[in-house]
Amino acid sequence: MSVKIIGTGSALPQKIVTNDDLAQMVETSDEWIRERTGIGSRHISTGETVVSLAAEACERALENAGKNPADVQLLLVATAAPETGIPCAACQVQSILGAGSAVAFDLNAACAGFLFALHTACAYIEAGIYENALIAGGEVLSKIVDWTDRSTCVLFGDGAGAVLVQRSEQPGILGFVQHSDGTKGEVLQCHSRQLSNPYISLPFDSHFVKMDGREVFAFAVRQVPACIREVLERNSLSPADVDLYVLHQANRRIVEGIARRLSVEEDRFPMNLDRVGNMSSAAIPVLLDELNREGRLRQGMTLVLSGFGAGLTYGACVLRW
Ligand code: UT7
Repeated sequence: MSVKIIGTGSALPQKIVTNDDLAQMVETSDEWIRERTGIGSRHISTGETVVSLAAEACERALENAGKNPADVQLLLVATAAPETGIPCAACQVQSILGAGSAVAFDLNAACAGFLFALHTACAYIEAGIYENALIAGGEVLSKIVDWTDRSTCVLFGDGAGAVLVQRSEQPGILGFVQHSDGTKGEVLQCHSRQLSNPYISLPFDSHFVKMDGREVFAFAVRQVPACIREVLERNSLSPADVDLYVLHQANRRIVEGIARRLSVEEDRFPMNLDRVGNMSSAAIPVLLDELNREGRLRQGMTLVLSGFGAGLTYGACVLRW
């Protein structure tokens, strides 16, 4: 018994913001952003929400798989930036879809969130609790980014991606590894509401993303290749056996660094960050959906998915398409 991805979908806000647009707001340039990150433009919400984007991505994944919302048994939304603390985004997506039989809840592991949610869904299915699961990664990071901070506002984009997975007799997801390192939490943070009640009121702290970019960069190029090797070795595979690496899209130089450390040609590392920026938990499922719709995923291909981000959290998954 295995768990197989049987449908993919994605949704992006309509508005496209170029590097030149950002250069009108903060002291930056198209040249700096492209050279240091590989990003050329990103989609930014002018009304779309995590819930509306995730629901659209889920509808497309269901359509792609030829399934109805009523068939869905588990619905997970990975997000670090939900509009509401309660109810969770997944319950709101459930309501829009009409997926009345699904159990729905959110999961936050920042940029590794989609991968962690996929692993959670697989564990439920392998335990025999559910037959299928719809998993979305959705972010509207533009509402938690400081638009006066050039070191972060140029990086992020909004969007959502989704996959439908199902129990299968065919080989599908072969294995996962997941890691967390809470001791490094301060390198990428975004505070929520401060403690404030009749007994205590803490001084205001910014509710925007703060990041030590160099630390995150160094962590990613060191830990991601190691955890990819770990999941491959557990499945008696080597980096050369992998047809495509679908990685979190944070920075072109990070992806290139990972390819170098694995001694794998860069053309096995598809990228879309030039058009969409870093969409945190939406990055992997959006890229996967684009590859699927472009016909680049053929049955029997070996794929690695790998995400990393705040927490710190990171992980990798190897699968047969
Ligand atoms: O999803 C996971 C979360 N995030 C990441 O994965 C991000 C990982 N980190 C990175 O991608 C890179 O560290 C950044 C793209 C964020 C920054 O690139 P860098 O090569 O590490 O630059 P830096 O932070 O070392 O800054 C170099 C210079 C600084 O100026 P000084 O101090 O040398 O005068 C910055 O102030 O570049 C300056 N700078 C900018 N200049 C123009 C920083 N941001 C900008 C900007 N435009 N947007």
